[in-house]
Amino acid sequence: MNIGLLGFGTIGSSFYRLTLNQEGFCVKTLLSRREREGLSCQVVYSFDEILNDPEIDTVVELIGGMHPAFDYIYAALNAKKHVVTANKMVVCAHYKELISLAEQNGVCLRCTAAAGGGIPWLPSINRAAAMDRLDAVEGILNGTTNYMLSEMTARGADYSELLREAQELGYAEADPTDDVEGFDTRRKLVLSANLAFDISVNEQDVPCEGISTLSSEDIAWAKERNLVFKLSARAERHGSGISAYVCPTLFPSATTEAQTNDIYNLVSLYAEHIGKQSFFGAGAGDYPTASNVLADCMEIKRGCPPFYNDHSLDDCGIDNAGTEGPWLFRANGTYTVRCLSVANAFYVLSKLRGIDSTALLAKLPYTVEV
Ligand code: HSE
Repeated sequence: MNIGLLGFGTIGSSFYRLTLNQEGFCVKTLLSRREREGLSCQVVYSFDEILNDPEIDTVVELIGGMHPAFDYIYAALNAKKHVVTANKMVVCAHYKELISLAEQNGVCLRCTAAAGGGIPWLPSINRAAAMDRLDAVEGILNGTTNYMLSEMTARGADYSELLREAQELGYAEADPTDDVEGFDTRRKLVLSANLAFDISVNEQDVPCEGISTLSSEDIAWAKERNLVFKLSARAERHGSGISAYVCPTLFPSATTEAQTNDIYNLVSLYAEHIGKQSFFGAGAGDYPTASNVLADCMEIKRGCPPFYNDHSLDDCGIDNAGTEGPWLFRANGTYTVRCLSVANAFYVLSKLRGIDSTALLAKLPYTVEV
């Protein structure tokens, strides 16, 4: 496999190093914005040099962001080159379009590193969905916020300091707002739900609440009740539709979710015959994520189909009006617990934000005394 590598950041440089020890996988050309010394590949500054090189059969896109990443992926598929990317923003926003483009051109599109970091989560969903009916996917899908919440819980560390640390360690997105406001988690949930249920969800339709309003007082409040905050996401079949949301969630401290700390992710699927299957592993970071990129290249070399699944993809609206459960709210320093549907919980939050811009919403495992 002759690879044109786009980007040499945390994941790109780790992927490059991994390929040095892999027979049959050669980064022929790197697209970089600046000079790179000591590499065994050629470095170019124009994507056209990769696009027009007939020896390059696979483009690995690791620059992130919407543009020019989308344009490069689109052009590469049209030029009949396989594409491997970790770019959840692009794949989530252009899901159906990119899958059809890969199919039309008889090449493969893979994005395993886009959800779950180093966990083979998307292939596991695909494998389960091929033989069983999936009813739900859920989990802790963002390493940055999990790192921040674990440190805030364990040592009362400061929110801004932790976000800076996560950026320095290369865990956070280019715009960390995507991490702390839950948008990164939402994109990963949408990709997971799309594969699990053979649908195509518009990410804007999924209500999403991040951790930016979570205070040290909230964490202390939870600790007194043996509960731990995590940013979690869930999508499930609900009647003929799909319910999906992202929000801070309280887990009893003895649960695996509560004990999933640092940048680790814990993701689970629920299927009719398989039951519950959970996957735990590094959710962000250089080599774990780069390993999933390399695994995608290996799958392509083995001759996998154009995308993970080859089923029809229906556009799917979100219906959160169903099942009710307990929710925690905090506004003007007062905590309340109410039993509501997901849709109503987010509606109440929007009203509370009118009187307190830092109002909090979190899902509870059971009703608690306040
Ligand atoms: N910013 C992402 C995270 C990177 O923290 O999970 C991995 O997708």
